[in-house]
Amino acid sequence: MLIRMVLTLATVAGAVLAQGSELDDGRDLFLYFCAECHGKDVASVGPLAEILAIEPPNLTNLAKRYAGTFPTDVVAMQVDGRIPVEAHSFMPVFDPSLDSDQMVALKLPSGQPLMVSEQLANLILYLQSVQTVTENAE
Ligand code: HEC
Repeated sequence: MLIRMVLTLATVAGAVLAQGSELDDGRDLFLYFCAECHGKDVASVGPLAEILAIEPPNLTNLAKRYAGTFPTDVVAMQVDGRIPVEAHSFMPVFDPSLDSDQMVALKLPSGQPLMVSEQLANLILYLQSVQTVTENAE
């Protein structure tokens, strides 16, 4: 009985830790690939922005700008290049760098899954976690 309880607790703790490490991974990816332009805090601009003709936008208010729902699919496809960002000659496409063998299903606001690399999924999880508005309850 006690053993089963301990095992259950260990499983729950494992799930929580897994989510924490996905967020950490997403944060590391952001700092490595994106912060030079979008700022370490995701909301300002980094050192590379100085040489760009277009100022990188604040990425912590995406949910707000999309009527309260974080646009998971738009962001995923902008980052991996499936949708070009408006006037987007300045932001590189990250698909090759974020490529990993592991593909995972990202749940979209519509409930539909979108297959992306595990790294891109973690990056998006991180961006979603730093949004300034709480998302609309679905
Ligand atoms: C070389 C600078 C640069 C880097 C590096 C960069 N971006 Fe951008 N990003 C921009 C600029 C500039 C824009 C504004 C749109 C454009 O390029 O025309 C933008 C736009 C965006 C948009 C669209 C935002 C909106 O308002 O709709 C998203 C999402 C985004 N970037 C995410 C990322 C992520 C995630 C990374 C890292 C994987 C990243 N960017 C790396 C410069 C950069």
